[in-house]
Amino acid sequence: MERPPLIEAKDIYVGYKTYRGIMKVLNGVSFHINEGEKIGFIGEAGGGKTTLMKTILRILPPNATNVRGKVIYRGKLDLMSVSEKEMKRIRRRGLSMIFQDPTSALNPVFKVGEQLMDIIKYSRLEEGIKLSKKELREEALKLLEEVKLPDPQRVFDSYPFQLSGGMRQRVVIAMALVSARELLIADEPTTNLDVTIQDQILRLINEIVERRRLSVILISHALGAVRKMTNRTYVLYAGDIVETASSDELFSNPLHPYTRALIEAAPKLTGEGIGKGIPGRIPDYVNPPSGCRFHPRCEYATERCRKEKPPLVEVRKGHWVACWLYVKR
Ligand SMILES: Nc1ncnc2c1ncn2[C@@H]1O[C@H](COP(=O)(O)OP(=O)(O)OP(=O)(O)O)[C@@H](O)[C@H]1O
Ligand code: SF4
Ligand SMILES: [Mg+2]
Repeated sequence: MERPPLIEAKDIYVGYKTYRGIMKVLNGVSFHINEGEKIGFIGEAGGGKTTLMKTILRILPPNATNVRGKVIYRGKLDLMSVSEKEMKRIRRRGLSMIFQDPTSALNPVFKVGEQLMDIIKYSRLEEGIKLSKKELREEALKLLEEVKLPDPQRVFDSYPFQLSGGMRQRVVIAMALVSARELLIADEPTTNLDVTIQDQILRLINEIVERRRLSVILISHALGAVRKMTNRTYVLYAGDIVETASSDELFSNPLHPYTRALIEAAPKLTGEGIGKGIPGRIPDYVNPPSGCRFHPRCEYATERCRKEKPPLVEVRKGHWVACWLYVKR
């Protein structure tokens, strides 16, 4: 019998309360990740990628509202309806996220070692194991080694501000590894880093997930890295999945007008500078466009696009697109 996906998100809606009204961000998103699979999410800033990840881990901010849908874990448990306590246990046991902004993950007033030991301590307590100070220290140092920090002992005794951006990001990865036994979500793990360092960090993540046999969700604006590192990719535009296929297929044969524009706009691998960008911008989520949310920016938009939301349909084997251009009448 086939194993159920590690995570299967079904028809997720999420809004945010703001002083202007409710932002209707996620608009019925479904996706899945199998055990051991590596998937990518791409799309412009503000498309809802981080919101989606926070939804499945149930760590949305307090102003999130109208949260609906299912997040089926291993084919049986709906993470949207388990108790807070159970959710915490599941997160600690195996689901982990490297956040977009490394500085917010680190507390500036504590040494790296102390912070890491704390996380390990509570994570093990959750499993009923009480580690001694010495054991905590050993585990922390092992993790700092695993993320290839050159002098783990020195890093252990440093405050975050004493480290370079790249080193800080390795520390953040080490922290995520404390509970990464099933899934690692890497949410733009290389923003704000130099290009050469970006490459090293992505390679490190790749090595770790291979060694630990983790499933991984990589969110990145570095499209080349997503193509190389993942098996499947989802394209998220304004809270809708607009296309998904195997990463090779998606990047070599993009079908949705948005995906095409996105790939076209990406900095070319030749290093010829930034592409031309996609005209227009992500819509206002308080009053999102009717029908296909991309229609105000789409050169192919018709009356139907303005009225009806296109369904995600399988255009070729494993290649799904949500666009009226691909729906046979
Ligand atoms: N707590 C919040 N309150 C109000 N709006 C929010 C909140 N968090 C996110 N948003 C808004 O929700 C939309 C989706 O944001 P999200 O961070 O999920 O996008 P993203 O795809 O991760 O973008 P990026 O590539 O910039 O990380 C954006 O318009 C963002 O400003
Ligand atoms: S459904 Fe219509 S507006 Fe949306 S991407 Fe396709 S052609 Fe463009
Ligand atoms: Mg984000």
